[in-house]
Amino acid sequence: MSLAIPPHQLQLNEHGQLKHFLTTENLSTEILTEILDTAESFSSVGQQAVKKVPLLRGKTVVNLFFEASTRTRTTFELAAKRLSADVLNINISASATSKGESLMDMLWNLEAMDSDMFIVRHQDSGAPHFIASQVCPNVAIINAGDGRHAHPTQAMLDMYTIRKHKGDFRNLKVAIIGDITHSRVARSQVHALNGLQVGEVRVIGPKTLIPHDMEHLGAKVFYNMEQGLKDVDVVIMLRLQKERMNSALLPSEHEFYRLYGLTTEKLAFAKPDAIVMHPGPINRGVEIETAVADGPQSVILKQVNYGISVRMAVLSMAMSGQSTAITATSEAINGEHGA
Ligand code: CP
Repeated sequence: MSLAIPPHQLQLNEHGQLKHFLTTENLSTEILTEILDTAESFSSVGQQAVKKVPLLRGKTVVNLFFEASTRTRTTFELAAKRLSADVLNINISASATSKGESLMDMLWNLEAMDSDMFIVRHQDSGAPHFIASQVCPNVAIINAGDGRHAHPTQAMLDMYTIRKHKGDFRNLKVAIIGDITHSRVARSQVHALNGLQVGEVRVIGPKTLIPHDMEHLGAKVFYNMEQGLKDVDVVIMLRLQKERMNSALLPSEHEFYRLYGLTTEKLAFAKPDAIVMHPGPINRGVEIETAVADGPQSVILKQVNYGISVRMAVLSMAMSGQSTAITATSEAINGEHGA
């Protein structure tokens, strides 16, 4: 197994089922829809008296977050616990990485404890792909955000939110606004929206914050909110990722807010029933006005709640894809020896 296998191939078993979840790029409409349908089937678990189903009973899930997180880490933990898995949360700052242990040595030690699944957030693009290429065949890797590359489960909970509130993707215009360049969320959303055959995907922002490949990915590019928001059904705001900017890409936050901040006045350019989304964390008064973030069109906190059932779907599908892969491998080995 090597990095020569790209993430979109490495994440599938020989039957085309998910066995890792590294990227939404090149995922089929069928798998994307299966994630959404499976999440829907888990959506009532949180309302049960006992918020648990036994699908991952006896499995060990390890949360490995090398970058800060509130929503992703906690909803993955809740998702794993609602599937009855045992969950380990590794405190990276208190781990032996501070003594010089490498990423893979840490992983191989945790793997030696019979872990079944690692949920990885890392500042380096490609880290979960690299780990998936190195671990034992029966261990699943789930990307919880890598550098500016991908945040596939965030994109899928966003797709779930859109389908729940707006229905068929083919009839929708979706606008993603702000710092597209540094956003792993935006990239994963564009791939997922393409896979789900969305009517139109737009990106809106200053030229300095829109990467050159967006049109190649099928997105329409706008530098003006009035033009970009016209007739839009879904408005997705992004945070300015200042921690990933290594040069002055903006005149000032104030100027960014004046031109691209989502205010009640600018939201009026979209359809009257447009929904407002944001992956969080939100910065009020930087990319979004409080009246909009907390207003009647906002589904921002619903996104957080949907994240639990979407992550339950991804964990259960990857575990199932691993079991199928192992069974197929054992059968092939036994067949070979039996011949
Ligand atoms: N949306 C998101 O990834 O939030 P966290 O950084 O809090 O996990």
